[in-house]
Amino acid sequence: MDQAEQLRKLVKQQNSSQKKNIARVITVTSGKGGVGKSSISVNLAIGLARAGKRVIVMDVDFGLANIEVMLGIRPEYNLADMMFRGKTLREVITKGPEGIGFISGGSGIHELTKLTREQIVNLTMRLVELDELADVIIIDTGAGIADAVLEFVAASTEVLLVATPEPTSITDAYALLKTLNRKSEFSTENTSIKMIANRVTSENEGRELFEKINVVVAKFLDFHLEYLGNIPQDEQVSKAIIRQKPIILSAPNSEAGKAIHELAEKLGGICVPVADEKKGIAQLFANLIKTTYKQKRKG
Ligand SMILES: Nc1ncnc2c1ncn2[C@@H]1O[C@H](COP(=O)(O)OP(=O)(O)O)[C@@H](O)[C@H]1O
Ligand SMILES: [Mg+2]
Repeated sequence: MDQAEQLRKLVKQQNSSQKKNIARVITVTSGKGGVGKSSISVNLAIGLARAGKRVIVMDVDFGLANIEVMLGIRPEYNLADMMFRGKTLREVITKGPEGIGFISGGSGIHELTKLTREQIVNLTMRLVELDELADVIIIDTGAGIADAVLEFVAASTEVLLVATPEPTSITDAYALLKTLNRKSEFSTENTSIKMIANRVTSENEGRELFEKINVVVAKFLDFHLEYLGNIPQDEQVSKAIIRQKPIILSAPNSEAGKAIHELAEKLGGICVPVADEKKGIAQLFANLIKTTYKQKRKG
């Protein structure tokens, strides 16, 4: 049995040892940058928290400290501090509005291949703990075809694809799906991909955007894309970011504020069946580590 398999077995044992809670993990991604992923991640998190869920947002979009700015918080430690510098899970979770938790990935995701065996086991145990602490974990990824992003998406069971009506956003969204479809780690049966049309001027435009992408997906790729809904173009979104107070709190009655609230309700009401061996954040990382190790051996 190789290391990755041992790891997955460990997670499985931990998860089934007592009837443990395993978080629902939602990965937010897009083909193109700047389409609203971070804003949507944060607002959906708050919307779900208001509906009584324990929510954690994890930022794995290295470099841009987007979410921290949007929430007006400064986390003291990040995932890499937990992986390499002995910080506990609680130390890397920063409290945000409405009781949501926030974890900054830092350089952690890039450094997964640098982990020693002992560090991998340690990280996995911490993530099993995280699965217990949260009902929903929202992962905000970077945009595009970057390998680290694709691997994250391929290891996920529930994906939210954000697209806007700009032509480049459409082609980049399709390019992302196409590359994903080619990944051996990606399994169509085990992944639910839902699209959000952001910055639209009408409900119709949102639907049309979805149809444009979906028609190519249905023709050339072997998976099913679902439409979650739209968020209108609304200057309140940018204002909320400048104010460092998410729109769902600062302008709940704005067009975008209402739309995001509805999307959170819709998302909260959906139950996505997930195979036991793919459930939760610990399992997702176990799958990621498996992929990165495979690549390391190959390279
Ligand atoms: N519905 C919207 N209406 C108006 N502006 C928006 C909307 N959604 C996003 N934006 C703008 O797009 C910018 C990028 O959003 P962000 O969430 O940082 O995108 P990403 O995380 O995909 O890079 C924000 O600064 C905001 O001004
Ligand atoms: Mg972002």
